[in-house]
Amino acid sequence: MSENQSAEPKSLERIDPQAGAADDKVFAQTLAQHVERYEFAMRHVRDKLVLDVACGTGYGSQMLKRDGGARRVIGVDLSSEAIREARDTYAEDGVTFVQANLETDPLPESPVDCVVSFETIEHLEDPRRFLQTLHSVLRDDGVLIASVPTTQTSDFNRYHLHDFTPSQARDLIESCGFEVIETKIQPLFFTVFDLMRSSNAHQWESPMPENVWRLYMRSPAKLLYRAWMLCSRFGYDVSVGVFVARKKPVS
Ligand SMILES: C[S@@+](CC[C@H](N)C(=O)[O-])C[C@H]1O[C@@H](n2cnc3c(N)ncnc32)[C@H](O)[C@@H]1O
Repeated sequence: MSENQSAEPKSLERIDPQAGAADDKVFAQTLAQHVERYEFAMRHVRDKLVLDVACGTGYGSQMLKRDGGARRVIGVDLSSEAIREARDTYAEDGVTFVQANLETDPLPESPVDCVVSFETIEHLEDPRRFLQTLHSVLRDDGVLIASVPTTQTSDFNRYHLHDFTPSQARDLIESCGFEVIETKIQPLFFTVFDLMRSSNAHQWESPMPENVWRLYMRSPAKLLYRAWMLCSRFGYDVSVGVFVARKKPVS
């Protein structure tokens, strides 16, 4: 986690279904992509004890319980502001929220049947250690459902410390003791004009890392990719990979 990661109260970085304007294309399509991921996860949670790690504002934790039929869902997030909002808005019988740092604090319950972790891995200093922690809290045969951006985002989003391709993300998950049994790619593109027209446009300015030029100097390929994308009809590509992975028993 970068130093300023916990500071941002509300942004498209942590989507809040209550906070955006419905006529804002960037907000509406980003929210739809987030909701669709939780709907995808619902198929795996019926009657299960579920950890929703990096739950953000908590709308997804409630979906897993209410619509997915999970037995109990515990949402965990670093941000006290997000956890306060989650408790105020989405807590109910069987849905609770705990503030914890996934990089340093123990997870609140173990073993669990299922871990949902959407848009988390790219935020953490050591994604491998994080996935190993998730492996250790899952019961044998438990299921991890994780998502990660599968395009370059680290130059446009100061909260993203890593970029992954779909195969790099899959290999990383499998190298931590999981077998990926299903992959879903969620394509999503915004043109530069979409971003500028968005009523959340100011949120697209501050998330850029201050050291973006240093990043480009270190990796000129990232600059070329960005320049090419912005000039192409794809603009800003925020496609995401969702991976369903079964825990392999420790041999
Ligand atoms: C993009 S949001 C995803 C929220 C939610 N899973 C969703 O899909 O809407 C990423 C979340 O990760 C949380 N986060 C980042 N680093 C963390 C850490 N070290 N421990 C716990 N949560 C963390 C942030 O506070 C943020 O709410």
